[in-house]
Amino acid sequence: MNGIARFLKKKWVLYTLLLTPILYLLLPQARSETEFQADPAKYLLEYIGLSATILFVIALMITPLRKVFPKSPIIKAFAFHRRQIGVSVFIYALLHLLIYFAYTGSWSGFVKDWEKLFILSGIIALILLLVLAVTSNNRSVRALGGKRWKRIHRLVYAIMFLLIYHQATQEKTGYQETAKIFAPLLILQAYRIGLYGKRSLDQRSNDKS
Ligand code: HEM
Repeated sequence: MNGIARFLKKKWVLYTLLLTPILYLLLPQARSETEFQADPAKYLLEYIGLSATILFVIALMITPLRKVFPKSPIIKAFAFHRRQIGVSVFIYALLHLLIYFAYTGSWSGFVKDWEKLFILSGIIALILLLVLAVTSNNRSVRALGGKRWKRIHRLVYAIMFLLIYHQATQEKTGYQETAKIFAPLLILQAYRIGLYGKRSLDQRSNDKS
């Protein structure tokens, strides 16, 4: 187990894992999919958007998983890379936006489209992801101070709801597919809140006795 964790901690392993969605596109199987052949730009738009969302869910699952499995060296290895995983969410989301420009063909299409609530939710999520990405380094933690940095990084929860909305309102994926992607994260968060509630109750009854 420790051997796997040591392996996972290596930077090149992390970068290979983060690049897996792109590497998959290089395979002939990906390009022979009917959806890719029908409309490559639309396929890439959806595929990269989905990759960004899945990476986001993985990044957010690390902290609750650490609470549930505090001794797991594998979870610790992922926790070690949490900030890089977060930054890669932003990079994939930016790529999704660039493909969207290529797909719609112009900037004016984007301006017209952002009246649609689902596009607006994507734009706000991307801006918030940018805030988190630029502050995901030790210098920012020092400059902002731990408390303020943590408060800023709670924006992930706002991003989570925006992304749920952005994806759930898609005709193709809809609420069911979105629920499948976000369910593990929501269950873990609920468990974490339960654990926190139980600890505060225990603490209070200890203080009274
Ligand atoms: C400027 C911001 C954004 C714009 C303009 C945008 C645009 C779009 C559009 C037009 C679609 C629908 C594609 C279709 O016709 O099927 C879409 C789907 C999607 N977007 Fe975004 N998006 C933005 C931000 C984001 C962000 C920040 C994420 C995630 C981190 C994201 C994840 C997704 C997902 C998961 C889908 C559904 C993919 C599927 O159908 O499987 N988007 N987006």
